[in-house]
Amino acid sequence: MATATKSVFKRDILETDAQGETTALLQSNLVNLIDLALLLKQAHWNVLGQNFRSVHLQLDEIIETVCQASDDVAERINTLGVAPDGRSSTVAESSNLASYPEGFQEVSETLSNVADALMTTIESLRDAIGKLGDLDAVSEDLCIGVSAGLEKHLWMVQAQEA
Ligand SMILES: [Fe+2]
Repeated sequence: MATATKSVFKRDILETDAQGETTALLQSNLVNLIDLALLLKQAHWNVLGQNFRSVHLQLDEIIETVCQASDDVAERINTLGVAPDGRSSTVAESSNLASYPEGFQEVSETLSNVADALMTTIESLRDAIGKLGDLDAVSEDLCIGVSAGLEKHLWMVQAQEA
């Protein structure tokens, strides 16, 4: 996990300890969300087989949600006076997501890999939600909203596996 740095602002919303713990939790979810958006584009480009068009387009809908979420999480870190770190090297070092397989993937494999990536991202968000309740209710609320959106997408992805 990237180290959260001291606030640059004169007026801090949170106490120093809560600010450091909160921004560290947000940062660890930020890198997952950035990685998830990249993974979903890889899936979008390389899906093959029956229902290609439906899955191809669905993946872009999920990407839109994920990109908005990463921007919201990054800017919450900013709001708390800390610089978010969305560099590719940081994402590669600290994302929890498994690497997406290389090359074309059948629809069934695509759905399985995308559902797994969504689930990993959701588990990390829910872990943060559990801790943020005592640290910062506003960041907790943000993570709840992000997780709710991803959980709905997970439903629509794994409903196709049934
Ligand atoms: Fe596209």
